[in-house]
Amino acid sequence: MKRSIIKSTGRYVPDRHVTNHELTERMDTSNEWIVQRTGIEARYWVKEGEDVGASDLGCEASKIALERAGWSPDDLDLIVFATMTPDVNVPGSGAFLQDKLGAKGVPALDIRQQCTGFLHGLEICDAYIRSEKAEKILLVGAEFQSRYLEVTTANRDTAVIFADGAGAACIEAKETDSNIGIIASILHADGKHSQALRVGLPARKSGHPISQTVIDNQEHFPFMDGKTVFKLAVTRLPKVTEELLNKAGMQLEEIDMFLPHQANLRINEAFRDRMQIPQEKMYNNIQRYGNTTAATIPIAFDEMIEQNLVKSGDTIMFIGLGAGLTWGGVIYKMV
Ligand code: UT7
Repeated sequence: MKRSIIKSTGRYVPDRHVTNHELTERMDTSNEWIVQRTGIEARYWVKEGEDVGASDLGCEASKIALERAGWSPDDLDLIVFATMTPDVNVPGSGAFLQDKLGAKGVPALDIRQQCTGFLHGLEICDAYIRSEKAEKILLVGAEFQSRYLEVTTANRDTAVIFADGAGAACIEAKETDSNIGIIASILHADGKHSQALRVGLPARKSGHPISQTVIDNQEHFPFMDGKTVFKLAVTRLPKVTEELLNKAGMQLEEIDMFLPHQANLRINEAFRDRMQIPQEKMYNNIQRYGNTTAATIPIAFDEMIEQNLVKSGDTIMFIGLGAGLTWGGVIYKMV
């Protein structure tokens, strides 16, 4: 049976390091508020005016992952690119990345699943591998969100949270009878909550997609009903954990490490508390990176590998929730 193995990972963040203190000079906020409500101490943003897109950030992370896997871009059967901040609306960032890597002729699929982009990507890669449509896949989560943020008091709730960065993983097919690699995945969506976190461009109503009204109403900046998203996260993450464990036929204690999406440290702490997960079994890095949406999980996983926090034989649960509403998780056993 074919199983999906994460052969290597890579991460990249732009070099502009933005502390909470810097933000306090640009809007009415405080380091205490940001740390207390979100856990974030600093994040990375692309330098203002720099001519890059999500594909450039994704390209840097991909080059590292490809080198570690010992793969050349020509070896790839597929590129899956998860982002909610594509370089442009059309074409997808996967096509830009394919060209920048020189992966001639390799199909490139963009997915727009926001905070669960990487989780959706893992399930897609697994489906391609199990159905023997692909053997070597590059999965990327990359965001250039700072250019969509308005760094003013009016939009301070989103401005302090979202950040730029990229993570990549080389996913390989392995023929084995062992229960390794991607063991189980579950994904959900509930469009009833689509308005809780959104960017209103292109405009829904008839007329030009970028009208003066859209700009006046600030529809081009992200809108977030933070309280609603928060409440949905702390109820749905525990539920999907149970679903995942049932699907995999496992007990919570058998999970060696939990890697949740990095949206808010308080959400992850509430989830950990509710599930009674020991502190040392959960990895968070939102303190240093902010919320990089589709990139949080691959960036954090790359760090966990680097710090030897996971080893061969360990079982990890990746889990997350975000705009859509979408949520889900993946159980992965290290080779
Ligand atoms: O990954 C995408 C998914 N997104 C999420 O998971 C986000 C989930 N939600 C959250 O993380 C939290 O709701 C936030 C961090 C966004 C907000 O925290 P909160 O505890 O829900 O605060 P709040 O929205 O209820 O706002 C409380 C107060 C308000 O002032 P008043 O009305 O009480 O006077 C806000 O205007 O805090 C104010 N506020 C701020 N103050 C200082 C909002 N943002 C800021 C800020 N600095 N950056």
